[in-house]
Amino acid sequence: MFVERKAELILPSGFDNIESYAATLEEYLSSELVQSLLNGHPNEIAKSGPPLAWNEWWKWASSLNSGDIPLHLTESIKLDLPGSLSKLLRDASRLALPRASVPHIPLPRPLPKGQTPKKVHEVRHFSKLIAELSADIGVDNIVDVGSGQGYLSLELASKHGLNVLALDFSEVQTSGSIHWAQQAKEQNLKLSHVTHHISQATLPGLVQNWIDGRHLARSNRNVIVIGLHACGSLTVEVLRACMDNMKPQDDGAADHWKIKACAIVGCCYNMLSDHDKHVSRLTAPPLPSDAFQLAAQPWLPPSPAELSLTLKKITYRALFGRLLYEKDIELPTDTRVRRLKDSAYSNWGTYIQAASSRMGVSPQLLDINSVWTEEMRQLSTTVSMLHVLRSKLGPVIESWILLDRYVWLCEQLEEPGLASVEMKWVFDSGISARSAVFIVKVLHY
Ligand SMILES: C[S@@+](CC[C@H](N)C(=O)[O-])C[C@H]1O[C@@H](n2cnc3c(N)ncnc32)[C@H](O)[C@@H]1O
Repeated sequence: MFVERKAELILPSGFDNIESYAATLEEYLSSELVQSLLNGHPNEIAKSGPPLAWNEWWKWASSLNSGDIPLHLTESIKLDLPGSLSKLLRDASRLALPRASVPHIPLPRPLPKGQTPKKVHEVRHFSKLIAELSADIGVDNIVDVGSGQGYLSLELASKHGLNVLALDFSEVQTSGSIHWAQQAKEQNLKLSHVTHHISQATLPGLVQNWIDGRHLARSNRNVIVIGLHACGSLTVEVLRACMDNMKPQDDGAADHWKIKACAIVGCCYNMLSDHDKHVSRLTAPPLPSDAFQLAAQPWLPPSPAELSLTLKKITYRALFGRLLYEKDIELPTDTRVRRLKDSAYSNWGTYIQAASSRMGVSPQLLDINSVWTEEMRQLSTTVSMLHVLRSKLGPVIESWILLDRYVWLCEQLEEPGLASVEMKWVFDSGISARSAVFIVKVLHY
C-alpha cells in the first residue's frame, strides 16, 4: 500500500514498516482501557465514579500517597503497578515515535528583544533548516504562514538575506512583526507583511499578489512555504494548498509561480477542525476531543513543583464539581470556575471560597466545610493518577496524528513520484514540545 521510505520517518524500534506500526497504534488507541481513559475526564469521573474496567488500578491508586504520584510521570517507575497499568505504560513508551536529539546551537547573549529563550531556540533551529533548504533547491522566496510576531521572518530576511512574505490573520501580530522589523534598523530588508486569513483557498491568491507585485523574472517565481507552529487547521490547510500547487496543472500557466518546497511544524491539535483530524487512508482509532487536547500537551514531565500545582488544580476542580453535583446545585451551563490565581490552590478551604465566589454560589448553600476527609484524599489520589495516565497517552496520540499526516502526504505526492516527503524533529523536545517538521520537496525542477 505504501511506498516504503523508512529513512524519511524514523519508526519506533521493533517496527520496520509503516503498515504494521499504523495497525499497532490503531489497535492500542482503540483498546478498551485507552478508550475509557480518553473518555474519562477527571471532572466527570469524580461525579460518576470509575468504570468497572478500572477497578483494579482505582483501588490500588486510592491507597497511594499524593507524593507517590509524580514518580509515575518519570520513565523509571518505581512502584509496583497493577498489571493492566504496567502494560498500558510500557506500550505507550514503546509506540511513541522516537524523538531524535537535535544539534546544539548556542543562544545569543543578550537574547533578541521580545523573544523568550524558547522562541530564540525555535527561530535559530528552524531558520537554519530553511536557509539550507533554500540553498539546496535554489529558491529564495519564502512565504511564512502564521508568522505571528515575525521573529522567524525577520531572521530569514536579515541574517540569511531571503525574500520573505510574512502572513498572519491578526492585525496585532502583524503590527508586532512590523515593529520588530523596524527595530532591526536594517537597510534593504526584503520583508513584506500582509494581514489575511489563510486557507487552502486563499493562500494561492496571497502568494500570487506578492509575486506579481515584485515583477519577478519567470525563472525566479518559485517559492518555499514555511510555518512555525502553524496552529490547528492552519497546518492542514496550508499543506493542502501546497499539494494543489505541487501537482501538475493543466491550465497552461507557464508564468505562474510554483511552490517548490514546504516545511511546516504544526501545533495546537485541539484547535483542528473535525475534517482535518484524520486525513490519510489509514484506519483511524476513535479519538474524542480530549485526545487532541492531550496530544497538544508538553512532552516532557513538568517539574515536581509544577506538577504538584497542576494536580491540585485538577483534583480541587473535580472535587468541587462533585460537591455541586451531590448538593444538586444546577448552574447555567456557561458558568465555569475558569482561571483562578495560583494562591487560590494553597489549600482546600481557600480554594472553595475562591471557586464558590467565582461561580456565584453561596458557601452556605453548599454547606461546605474545609475539612479534607479521607474520602476526598482517596478521590484526589485516584483523580491525580487518572491525569498522569491520560497525559502518558499524549505522545502516542501525537504519533498517530503525525503518522496520519505523513502517510497522507505520501499518498498525495510521493507515491505518484511528484515530491519527496520527510518528517523530522527540529527542536529540543525539552524546550519546544511541538517539534516535528514536514518537509516536502518537488522532485523535478
Ligand atoms: C502559534 S502562533 C505561531 C507564530 C509564529 N510562527 C511563531 O512561531 O512565533 C500561530 C499564528 O498563526 C496565526 N494564524 C492561525 N490561524 C491562521 C489562519 N488561518 N490564517 C492566518 N493566520 C493564522 C495566529 O494569529 C498566530 O499568530
